[in-house]
Amino acid sequence: MPNGVAGFFIIEYSPQHKRHNILEVNMAQKTTERKILVGISGGISVYKMCTVVRLLKKSGARVRVVMTRSATQFVTPLTFSTLSQEEVSVSLWPGDAHSSTDLGVKHIDLGLWADAMVIAPATANTISKIAYGMADDILTSTVLALRCPLIIAPAMDVDMYLNSATQKNLSALRERGYFILPPDEGELASGLVGPGRLPEPEKIVSFVEEVLKKIPRDLTEKKILITAGPTYEPIDPVRFIGNRSSGKMGFALANAAALRGAEVTLIAGPVSLQTPKNVNRINVETAEEMKRAVLSHSKKADAVIMAAAIADYTPAHPAAQKIKKSGEAQKGLTLEMKETTDILKELGAQHNGALLVGFALETNNEIKNAMEKLRSKNLDYIVLNSTRNEGAAFGSDTNIVTIIGKNGAKEKLPKMPKFDVATEILHRISKKLAAKSKKTAR
Ligand SMILES: Cc1cc2nc3c(=O)[nH]c(=O)nc-3n(C[C@H](O)[C@H](O)[C@H](O)COP(=O)(O)O)c2cc1C
Repeated sequence: MPNGVAGFFIIEYSPQHKRHNILEVNMAQKTTERKILVGISGGISVYKMCTVVRLLKKSGARVRVVMTRSATQFVTPLTFSTLSQEEVSVSLWPGDAHSSTDLGVKHIDLGLWADAMVIAPATANTISKIAYGMADDILTSTVLALRCPLIIAPAMDVDMYLNSATQKNLSALRERGYFILPPDEGELASGLVGPGRLPEPEKIVSFVEEVLKKIPRDLTEKKILITAGPTYEPIDPVRFIGNRSSGKMGFALANAAALRGAEVTLIAGPVSLQTPKNVNRINVETAEEMKRAVLSHSKKADAVIMAAAIADYTPAHPAAQKIKKSGEAQKGLTLEMKETTDILKELGAQHNGALLVGFALETNNEIKNAMEKLRSKNLDYIVLNSTRNEGAAFGSDTNIVTIIGKNGAKEKLPKMPKFDVATEILHRISKKLAAKSKKTAR
């Protein structure tokens, strides 16, 4: 196969998930050879990317480069094609300089080809275009078509970086499941001092390696059902009883599972988080809606992870009209509550073969309560977190958990980002599913 030709894709359409699945990619290449797509936008630190490309090549990876037009003002495509030993893409259009002469759909091909994409330096302009889903050049079009992890390394003047517009865009990208490598602090090209420097090439390369290590493609062809967020139980048409769950843990699980190749269905309570890439999201509001959605989607699932904070009680008789004040302060308002269905218990009793993972948020007697939940609901794992742990609060980006297995084995993990907690949980699920497949194959 000639150098630079991506190889063969066998693509199957999954009507259920309304997406194509890649069954086999690039049969002619060694499986160990990682394919890294480097996106370069127009910042002063483009020169550092020459070393990044060289280091990636040295590590044995295949490297392809896409550049914005502005980036070519700083370093020429010729430099990057020489260093990467691959054609560099600058334009979407056949016939333009530095575009392929093939009548192909390069931005889609590159998005399918890569095992990981890293955009560095990511300018304020390119970050904002990605945040808004724009696709007006080869770099941003490729990002929209991407199936693999995306790493973004912002680099710009300190005021551009700290501007609330840039910060808001970066938050949106983080929520979407992209990995942000924060800029270093120090003296900038403008002479100002602060955050905005592109980290040194070694740091960029080890960040890419770290991300790839977290995301083995070990869940392809597995169906994983995840719940996230709170439920809202109506009191009347305008009021509800809710809870403080942010949904971040469940969304991190959905993102991590999709990146590992699983078909992910995410049943989400009312949260305003962005849906991670390649995740089929179903929005629900009440515990009853959550129950119906889970029971109908769990039948084909290989694993069900219940990270949602589902109400245990719901108003027995929600009012059809807004409840008015009586005008008598002493009278108050008493609500009659009824218990909701315990979804995990129902799933555990069904024994439909799916691995079951529950979450327990406890305020006291944590281990004892979690063990009780694990046994009574017949779960494979329970993930315990406590409101008493600092760094594990509602809405926090970190969590401190103890994972307890069916046999009672407890593993206390240190404080870590929710994505890393998700990775730890998925490592265990993946191992169990692999062992299960081996058993059934015998
Ligand atoms: C000398 C010079 C250096 C620049 N450095 C940066 C930078 O480091 N980061 C940034 O966000 N923009 C920088 N810019 C501005 C971008 O080049 C400009 O916003 C451009 O539209 C970015 O286009 P792109 O995102 O398509 O590459 C610089 C401009 C010039 C002229």
